[in-house]
Amino acid sequence: MKILSVVGARPQFVKLAPIADACREQGVEHVIVHTGQHYDPMLSDVFFTDLGIPDPDVHLGTGSGSHGRQTGAMLAAMDEVLEQHQPDWVLVYGDTNSTLAGALSAVKMHLPIAHLEAGLRSFNRAMPEEHNRVLTDHAADLLLAPTQVAMDHLAGEGLAQRSVLVGDVMVDVLMKVRAELTDTAAALDELGLSAGEYSIATIHRAENTDDPDRLAGIITGLQQVDHPVVLLAHPRLRAKVADQGLDLEGGSLTVRDPLPYPALIGAVDAARGVVTDSGGLQKEAFALRTPCTTVRTETEWVETVELGWNVLVSPGADDAADQIATAASREEPRPTDAAPYGDGQAAQTVVEVLTSRA
Ligand code: UD1
Repeated sequence: MKILSVVGARPQFVKLAPIADACREQGVEHVIVHTGQHYDPMLSDVFFTDLGIPDPDVHLGTGSGSHGRQTGAMLAAMDEVLEQHQPDWVLVYGDTNSTLAGALSAVKMHLPIAHLEAGLRSFNRAMPEEHNRVLTDHAADLLLAPTQVAMDHLAGEGLAQRSVLVGDVMVDVLMKVRAELTDTAAALDELGLSAGEYSIATIHRAENTDDPDRLAGIITGLQQVDHPVVLLAHPRLRAKVADQGLDLEGGSLTVRDPLPYPALIGAVDAARGVVTDSGGLQKEAFALRTPCTTVRTETEWVETVELGWNVLVSPGADDAADQIATAASREEPRPTDAAPYGDGQAAQTVVEVLTSRA
């Protein structure tokens, strides 16, 4: 039994870690293909090192480019890899261009494809991730859904027969990393922060970074929050801020490079709040019971909003800056012990399901 994982961007490395562990524990052969979509060491190598992921068996070295060029370059490089390895399953993760390229390549070669994190929908057809999700789900043979809401979306698109509810592998990795965290206090000292008194922010989605007015409104909002905000700047954000001649630092806002995963989890765990447009971080904040403000008009992780731990703000609105500052300065919501994302055993279930259907 051989699984071939296709990954390429930061959130996929996080999801890969528990799958690689589960493959090892269950004696399943696992081939890792890195497309090279993310190539900065802080977006890539550091995850392999910190999360104990084996080095990729194949590196496609694709790099940046427009959506078509980036996806096409991966697709062109994948044929040879799949021909050589002939896996029982091609496993693709999430919703990036690497996901779509892996799925398209496998479907053309008549190899079975499983999609991890299937069934997520924002219903926002302008998001590149939404195209990637829908196309990948419809190409795949097996849809591994993280939540009941995702299962319902798949059923609504006629895909119930191919869908299995497995839980969310990001909970697996988060629980393991949190249990191993040692010195969060020292790490906070290094960042100049005091536990419970700051927010962590990340902004990187194209719809937020690529429109100058929208980006300026978001930055102003972060600067007006009533406590310190540390923005962990993705390369896309840095590039767009430089192009647009904006100034990130000011008011409550300071800027840092992205953090390695364990440091990020420690920083979010001890934070007063999170402000983000990332999908993964909304869930991580919820799992750590840190209130989240999401700078998007919709979310795939609706459970976090329904349970009161996530508030959406409209980045395109005239009063976006006020909305962000007000939401990020709010009090903590009512406690909840709901666990809509599973119990930390999702990766084991994924590998069992794949083995039983190989
Ligand atoms: C991608 C995913 C998104 C995911 C995010 C996590 C798609 C369509 N989007 O967005 O779903 O949430 O990763 O970070 O696949 N860049 C660097 N160094 C790198 C990688 C990228 O400087 O290591 C720059 C590129 O030059 C480019 C920009 O970042 O300008 C965007 O990179 P890209 O991989 O296209 O998408 P992300 O915005 O990272």
